[in-house]
Amino acid sequence: MLLTQDEKKQAVAKAALDYVESGMVVGVGTGSTANYFVDALAGIKHRIDGAVASSVATANRLKERGIAVLDIHAVDDIGVYVDGADEATRHLHLIKGGGGALTREKIVAAVSRQFICVIDDSKLVDVLGQFPLPIEVIPMARSYVARELVKLGGNPFWREGFVTDNGNMILDVHHLNILNPCELETQLNQITGVVTNGLFAHRPADVLLMGTENGVEKLT
Ligand code: 5RP
Repeated sequence: MLLTQDEKKQAVAKAALDYVESGMVVGVGTGSTANYFVDALAGIKHRIDGAVASSVATANRLKERGIAVLDIHAVDDIGVYVDGADEATRHLHLIKGGGGALTREKIVAAVSRQFICVIDDSKLVDVLGQFPLPIEVIPMARSYVARELVKLGGNPFWREGFVTDNGNMILDVHHLNILNPCELETQLNQITGVVTNGLFAHRPADVLLMGTENGVEKLT
């Protein structure tokens, strides 16, 4: 029987519990796979110290399930961060930000000792860039940043009507063939007005758990 994409997401979310140790603070990402992880985490909530959320939506879901949400300023150690991705390579480089939470996701990932990325196998690619790369921009800089992105060969679209948790805007950049994710991540961060870009290359995942027809595959 073929598994659905959601069943694969559920399987990896559950598998990520193996990385959660007693007394840990757990970083939690954003999106449907991260939501399944929140549901799984609720089953062991008495064993953890609490969670740090990468978005308002995730904080709300954690609270609804009785999991303590901690302020990131109040913790000096996040043992593990669990989050999904829009695309991933076998080098564990990622595109994230389909849900628009990329900046907070990058911050929680930076603070965390281990980043466990949870995906279904439709997200695995050889080269990043089929999925439009999300870039969070300061509202005033939107048109300027878009022009700079065109110079780099991209085709940016404003995600109209969407405001990030930080009060900013998202440009989704199409037609990028990302052969050197580290270089492009750095280059995009140099554009004035860019807050963050959705490439997770300088801080890739440490472990990629991928839901497949044959179970959960682990890539490191
Ligand atoms: C949100 C993200 C998500 O991790 C990404 O969009 C994947 O989402 P899903 O688990 O729903 O497929 O980066 O900003």
